[in-house]
Amino acid sequence: MPVELRRAKPPDADFLLELLGNEDVRPFLGPRTAATRDEVLEEIDRSLSEPESFGRFVIEVDGEPAGMLDFHLASERNRIARLERLAVHPRFRGRKLGDGAARLFQRHLLEELGFHRLELEIYAFNERACAHAERVGFVREGRKRKAYLKDGEWVDSVLYAMLAEDLD
Ligand SMILES: CC(C)(COP(=O)(O)OP(=O)(O)OC[C@H]1O[C@@H](n2cnc3c(N)ncnc32)[C@H](O)[C@@H]1OP(=O)(O)O)[C@@H](O)C(=O)NCCC(=O)NCCS
Repeated sequence: MPVELRRAKPPDADFLLELLGNEDVRPFLGPRTAATRDEVLEEIDRSLSEPESFGRFVIEVDGEPAGMLDFHLASERNRIARLERLAVHPRFRGRKLGDGAARLFQRHLLEELGFHRLELEIYAFNERACAHAERVGFVREGRKRKAYLKDGEWVDSVLYAMLAEDLD
């Protein structure tokens, strides 16, 4: 099934808001995740007006929204983008849509936007997402021990990166 990736537009706000609040998505994302419709709309506007440094993307299957992916500029000087909030809607899970979407995103960021390095961080307990990151070519660079307080417990995170030359 062909997966497509496109920049989010204002009419996507309700889908993104529902996805961010989904009980099988929210526990895996960081605490700064936008939570209101206005915040999501503000982020979409920023993605449209600052496309080289901020991105809110929708994963689509047969023209239907199935997930999301985000990035922001982490270092202009070093051409580093930080990827965030990959999520596939639970009704689309089980087909590894996240892998296809992540590969499209890597090409867009490294080849079209000219980033040199992509970084992402995953809670260590999120084994499904760590397995996904490794399948799509991210290299595990380290582990931050007890770095975040989550539901009253200290949790580790795992750091991943991909360089332009790591692309096939
Ligand atoms: C991570 C995510 C995007 C992957 O979605 P997807 O591409 O649809 O992936 P699938 O549902 O097809 O599952 C992919 C594989 O993970 C496997 N998997 C499921 N739970 C797992 C676990 N706990 N540990 C390891 N692998 C697991 C699945 O079995 C499948 O492998 P298989 O096809 O060989 O059996 C999706 O699970 C998601 O949106 N999670 C919530 C948000 C999130 O964690 N985002 C990452 C934040 S950094």
